[in-house]
Order: sequence, then C-alpha cells, then structure tokens
Amino acid sequence: MIRPFIIAQVLGFLLCLLPVATHYISVHALLSFALLQGAAAAAVSVALGAPRWWHVINLCFLPAVVVALSWRAPPAYYLLGLGLLTLVFWNTLRERVPLYLTNRSTLNALSELIRSSGCQRFMDAGSGTGTVVAYLARRHPEVHFCAVENAPLPWLLGRLRTLFVPNVETFYGSLWSTSFSRQDLVYAFLSPDPMSRLWRKCQADMAPGSWLVSNSFQIMGVEPTRVVQLEDRRRTSLYLYACAPDSRALTKG
Ligand SMILES: C[S@@+](CC[C@H](N)C(=O)[O-])C[C@H]1O[C@@H](n2cnc3c(N)ncnc32)[C@H](O)[C@@H]1O
Repeated sequence: MIRPFIIAQVLGFLLCLLPVATHYISVHALLSFALLQGAAAAAVSVALGAPRWWHVINLCFLPAVVVALSWRAPPAYYLLGLGLLTLVFWNTLRERVPLYLTNRSTLNALSELIRSSGCQRFMDAGSGTGTVVAYLARRHPEVHFCAVENAPLPWLLGRLRTLFVPNVETFYGSLWSTSFSRQDLVYAFLSPDPMSRLWRKCQADMAPGSWLVSNSFQIMGVEPTRVVQLEDRRRTSLYLYACAPDSRALTKG
C-alpha cells in the first residue's frame, strides 16, 4: 500500500506544478498548493484503486504537514503522535505486515465459509483491531473464535470490542508462538512476506480437515484448493488451502 501512496503523492505534486507553472496559483500560497496537491493525490489514489482510507491519507498528508509546520505545536505533541504510531505499527518492520482491516464483503464471505464448512473453531492470526472476530462471533454464537495480535494498541482495541462477547478469546502475542492445532479454520490477512512460513506452520500444527484462508496473498508454489472471488471494490480474493487432503466441505459451490 505504500507504493500507491508514494505514486499518488508524487503524481499529485506534479499535477499541481501545472497550475503553478501557468500562474493559476502562487507557490507562496503554500496551503493552497498543499490543498491542491492533496486533491490531486487523492484523485490518483482513487484511479489506482487504493483502499478508501488511503484516499483520505493522500488528501490530508501535505496539508497536514503545512498546518503542522505553521502551528508550532509543542514538541511533546509530536512525541505523543510518534508513541501512538509505534503502539499501532509496533511489529511492522520486523513482521513486514502493516495494519489494514478486512472489509464488510469479505466478512460476509467468511461468514458463509463458516456456515458451509461447519467450522467450530476459527482463528484470526494477526487480528488487528478485532474487526473479524467481533463481526463473526455475533453471527455465529455456536463457533469459538480466537484472535491473536502482537501490536499493543490494535490488540487492546480488539480486546475491548470483544470484552463481553462470550465466544471470543483474545491473545496478546505472536502468531508464530501460538498453536493452531485446535483450529478448524485459520484466517490470515497478512502480506506476501510471511506466507510460506505460515503454510509450514499450518501443515505442522493443524489437523486433517482444517483450512487456511488467506485474504489476498497466495502461498508461493502452492496451488489453492479453492479461490473465492469477491465483487467488492478491491476485487478481494480469498485463497483456501486444505491443510490435509481429506477435507471437501469448502470445495463445494
Ligand atoms: C493486515 S492486518 C489484518 C487485521 C485483521 N486480521 C483484519 O483482517 O481486520 C495484519 C495484522 O497482523 C498483525 N501481525 C503481524 N505479524 C504478527 C505476528 N507475528 N503475530 C501476531 N500478529 C501479527 C499486525 O500487527 C496486524 O494487526
């Protein structure tokens, strides 16, 4: 997601140089320029098909920098901002998995998979702010949901969201040191980087008949048992991998 952001910002900047060059706005009107650049960057972001919240980031990035520079805020505010970002993206450099959330169409598709497979135990490996388990647990009170997350602030939000949902357990810790052995279905929305390692872990931990469902990212060199193609804006693909060959329930339909 960082590449579309950089492309949008640079193209937004270049597009704004046009009116500057033709004297429509003065370069000295820095905020006007930043607002124009933000609008152009957001338009590029839309054209690139980036998730909606990246349009907002692209729109606000340069205007926010200009406002922050002119504001002369106490340095403690920046320290606070840095602290909050660190708590959210705590593990991103090491794990190479940033925080982004499963959308509503995918949640509904997961709900359908749970129903059609007869899944009794579901784990979100890298559960972020608990979006997946909070949504699904209320729709499937008979299923046990487990959420594992190792970034402090998202974990805390997920914990608070599901505090009074009896069929959800949340764990603060790494998915690599959590056993998948009792899960019927492990859902992962990570990044291309850890997929091979995740597959090895699923094969080592999970019982015959269980499933790994990966949102958007395939396992290199492993053919998915089934692909669910969604009609949402980002054309989400869910890759279903049978952890043992004897499971057929999800391959139907
Ligand atoms: C793309 S987000 C997905 C969040 C959530 N599953 C969803 O779909 O809404 C990936 C999450 O995995 C978490 N994560 C990455 N590596 C992890 C690890 N080794 N153990 C636990 N969580 C991890 C990140 O902190 C991030 O919150």
